Amino acid sequence: MTITKAVVPAAGLGTRFLPATKAIPKELLPVVDVPAIEYVVREASRAGLRDVLLITGKTKGAILDHFDRAWDLEAVLEDKGEPERLAAIRSSAELATIHAVRQSAPRGLGHAVLCAKAHVGREPFAVLLGDDLIDARDPLLTNMIAVRERLGGSVVALMRVPREQISLYGSAAAELVDDAAVPGLAPGSVFRLSHLVEKPLVAEAPSDLAIIGRYVLDPVVFSVLEDTGPGRGGEIQLTDALARLADIAPAAGGGLHGVLFTGRRYDTGDRLDYLKAVVRLAADHPELGSEFSSWLAEFVAGSPGR
Ligand code: G1P
Repeated sequence: MTITKAVVPAAGLGTRFLPATKAIPKELLPVVDVPAIEYVVREASRAGLRDVLLITGKTKGAILDHFDRAWDLEAVLEDKGEPERLAAIRSSAELATIHAVRQSAPRGLGHAVLCAKAHVGREPFAVLLGDDLIDARDPLLTNMIAVRERLGGSVVALMRVPREQISLYGSAAAELVDDAAVPGLAPGSVFRLSHLVEKPLVAEAPSDLAIIGRYVLDPVVFSVLEDTGPGRGGEIQLTDALARLADIAPAAGGGLHGVLFTGRRYDTGDRLDYLKAVVRLAADHPELGSEFSSWLAEFVAGSPGR
């Protein structure tokens, strides 16, 4: 079955970015000149997922405005003769059909995904976490969809991290799948997963493979989530539901694989990583890149101790 739906959880309070996020959703913080969440919706759209469900909360209305047409602004830009800016504000409304549902209480990522049940129905779907920005030049979602098509079940994205950082992520024990099972992917990049743990202690981590914020899920995940109690932090954890999916028979929609991602990923949910993401993307920006990079080189050279 072709995958057409993406779910983007965007209900977090953004407390790590206060006071910037007191009145503005963290998903709208700009990474250079584009709001963080637009990169994620662009990624979904590029992978053919043109039906995007945002899981939102209170104070998130501006996110929906961002993906809607802005007739008043368009008229002003048309009058001023600014076709490039006009195209840029129109394009965000054309990426996908955007839907929204509210998560009534902050009960965790698993609960946020469960809020998508009525919209998604009985189809496989993708989940993209807004804090993880995947560089548009490095394919990931399309590879994950290919794995789901060949092997069934659900698929998560994995990244190797230094052992001492594994406690920031979900982690899994992994066994390499034969390269011939999913042709076209880099050798050694598909794993069968078991024993998933959300944010394990370093000494208890099943591996150095971290789950990053991209998932392709079988709809059986909804009934598993309905039956998943609070886990780490008292929240309903998606990772706990995935751990159970790994034990369900493939004929019943179970089975869990991981695709190793070795491309560029930026974590925009953390202030320091956010700054790094802005600098890296600014350095590659088609208009600003070369001027910004020369300024940056001068800034670093002229600042002893940096
Ligand atoms: C969530 C997931 C975690 C995953 C991470 C990736 O955690 O619960 O398993 O590794 O995203 O970014 P969060 O970062 O929302 O705490």
